[in-house]
Amino acid sequence: MNDDAQLEVLAAARTIAEEAGRIVLQGFRRAPQIELKGAIDLVTDRDRASEAWIRRRMAEAFPNHGLVAEEGGGDAAQRSKELVWFCDPLDGTTNFAHGHFFFAVSLGLCHRGVPLLGVVHAPALRTTWWGGPGVGSFRATEGMPLERCRVRGGRTLSESLLATGFPYDRRTSAENNVRETSRIVLGVRGLRRCGAAAIDLCLVADGTYDGYWEQKLAPWDLAAGAAIAWGAGARLTRYDGRDLRETGLEGRGRDEEAYQGRIVATNGLVHDELLHEIAAARS
Ligand code: IPD
Ligand code: CA
Ligand code: CA
Repeated sequence: MNDDAQLEVLAAARTIAEEAGRIVLQGFRRAPQIELKGAIDLVTDRDRASEAWIRRRMAEAFPNHGLVAEEGGGDAAQRSKELVWFCDPLDGTTNFAHGHFFFAVSLGLCHRGVPLLGVVHAPALRTTWWGGPGVGSFRATEGMPLERCRVRGGRTLSESLLATGFPYDRRTSAENNVRETSRIVLGVRGLRRCGAAAIDLCLVADGTYDGYWEQKLAPWDLAAGAAIAWGAGARLTRYDGRDLRETGLEGRGRDEEAYQGRIVATNGLVHDELLHEIAAARS
């Protein structure tokens, strides 16, 4: 796909993300209907309504692309297409359900499993990020000038603002990021846990955070934010240091064991130091 075609796809996807964002906002701070998917893993009527809208509109706009979304998944026929959208209809559901502003609609297009383009729309923040490695990345916040996204220049963890997150099975699994966080929080300028992986990646892209790490993430958490982060000059690897551009977002077979949705996204400058700290905490 050439650059013009990519920009057209992004413009159409932004419209759909903004429409879905309006559907989500209808329930914000108005006691949405909440169900439990696991002990602490929520889903609301707004997750489902947003996803239904995204499926309908994406099928009209991109009839030849596959689509996989968090609540309804995607079958083998969808996943096997060359271009596949990985969509999170509401990233940050716990925030949304508690009336916290950090949640987003995340639409990421992968080419043979590798993120190519992304849109992350955070309706309560009045902010949208979009872009990809070929066309660059942008941030639009209502009332502010359009910004080109560039990663921040923090050179050491000691002068960095980082972000992380914790998996939903943290009460029962030792792979819960507690060891990593306890070590890293002591060495950085600041550490944030804002509860929406897609936004965390965009905040690396726009230079707010110097880095971010998390594990047990799904392709719909990552696809859009990874494309936007690359478009802003970020480096993204797994915990084992392998570049996500080579591996894609889904480990297979024995590789799944090594990957487990573990990602590190940084400005590049603090990447090796962060990988080292994560490894030291886990050893
Ligand atoms: C979650 C958020 C959260 C991250 C979890 C994700 P959801 O997505 O991105 O920040 O820590 O791992 O599952 O459930 O709100 O779509
Ligand atoms: Ca998510
Ligand atoms: Ca979600």
